[in-house]
Amino acid sequence: MPHTTRLLFVAGATRAASLNKRLARLGAEIANANGIHSAFADLGDYPMPLYDGDLEAAEGPPENARKLKALFEVHHGIFIVSPEYNASIPPLLKNAIDWVSRVRVDGERPLAVFKTRVFALGSVSPGAFGGIRGLTVLRQTLEIGTGALVLPDQFSVPRANTAFADNGHLADKAAMELFKGTIEKLARASLIMRQEVSNT
Ligand SMILES: Cc1cc2nc3c(=O)[nH]c(=O)nc-3n(C[C@H](O)[C@H](O)[C@H](O)COP(=O)(O)O)c2cc1C
Repeated sequence: MPHTTRLLFVAGATRAASLNKRLARLGAEIANANGIHSAFADLGDYPMPLYDGDLEAAEGPPENARKLKALFEVHHGIFIVSPEYNASIPPLLKNAIDWVSRVRVDGERPLAVFKTRVFALGSVSPGAFGGIRGLTVLRQTLEIGTGALVLPDQFSVPRANTAFADNGHLADKAAMELFKGTIEKLARASLIMRQEVSNT
């Protein structure tokens, strides 16, 4: 019976100074500091063309979609921290999810990589809403589109230009605790999912 879980933190943005990357990296750091094996993945390391059905028919999914799926597979919980673009999901993230959803090895159930993991969502924005509207769309994509289990809890940081302290942590201690609590919940839920999957 497996008794450990590994979390992957992914940001829906690639720019060097991305606030969402900053929170995703902080998440991995907090998790590791609390004994939960975690890693951060930069989608900038997995560039993919815009999804194109003709390209897929000719060449199959791009190698980076296969690599990203493989990375998902060695983690049991995935925490996505994403900006909202015009109250929706950034094309970078949607495109990555779309391509990964098309990678299937022989005999694999459709969307198995999504259905056998637990997801948690977070967002960061300089605006007052913290990007929370984009997470509604991301939740719909993952839950309804891919059949993923997404924690009801999510974590958003509004007014982010002043939200981070010099040490990289969130200046608001209560927000730090809330973030840590969401990560711990993801770790617990991922462990239960891992045990369920290994029993089937
Ligand atoms: C095309 C575009 C649309 C945006 N729409 C929103 C929005 O709807 N709500 C919001 O809070 N911020 C919006 N923003 C601002 C982003 O939240 C801000 O640029 C944020 O810093 C981007 O995330 P990053 O720092 O991780 O790159 C938008 C930015 C772009 C480029």
